[in-house]
Amino acid sequence: HGRLVVAVDGPSGSGKSSVCRAAARRLGAEYLDTGAMYRAATWYCLETGVDFDDESAVAVAVEETPLSLSTDPDHQKVWVGESDVTHAIRESRISEAVSAVATNRQARSVLIAEQRRLIDAAGFVIAEGRDITTVVAPDAQVRVLLTASAEARLARRGAELGGGQSAEALQRQVIERDVRDSAAANFTEAADGVAVLDSSELSFEETVDSLVGRIESVQ
Ligand code: C5P
Repeated sequence: HGRLVVAVDGPSGSGKSSVCRAAARRLGAEYLDTGAMYRAATWYCLETGVDFDDESAVAVAVEETPLSLSTDPDHQKVWVGESDVTHAIRESRISEAVSAVATNRQARSVLIAEQRRLIDAAGFVIAEGRDITTVVAPDAQVRVLLTASAEARLARRGAELGGGQSAEALQRQVIERDVRDSAAANFTEAADGVAVLDSSELSFEETVDSLVGRIESVQ
């Protein structure tokens, strides 16, 4: 397959990770979860006891993070050095701390450079995050903003976390992270040339079909 880059952005709970992974699997593409990179860098900061109030210390730690991740949609694995952090990076202590990395300019530029390298190496790839359509890969052949209503996003996050949290706590977490994240990247409005895919009223399969259809139309 020739070179084809698909860029997908969206807020947390829009379902973009599972939608993009399923689309990549169906099309035989690679899949890059850039959020996992921010999470892994945050895991390393916590592991090494970096002071999150010290911006340059955070930037140094992110630069030092021995991060590697697989872009195979069937075997999503994330490592920091020898540690398999695939599951650990999903813990809420990470979600709560990740904005310290996401809003750190120097840390972002380190991670963005690495993301571009991985995209270039991949050839046919679906890359997903908050700033892929605008900053990381603005020249991607397919650019999509995956949105969903606040209600739909909360319901999906709740299902993902297994109902172990009160609706109120969940709402606070999702909305607070949106607010913090929007300081780092604008993913609430589609930039010029970016198609909006609103999944509020769509099933998971319908959302995947829609994304796959857009990709097939440029192949
Ligand atoms: O997508 P996910 O929720 O795993 O992303 C974790 C965090 O990483 C986000 O809340 C955001 O702060 C950050 N992020 C980012 N830019 C990206 C992807 C993720 O700032 N491209």
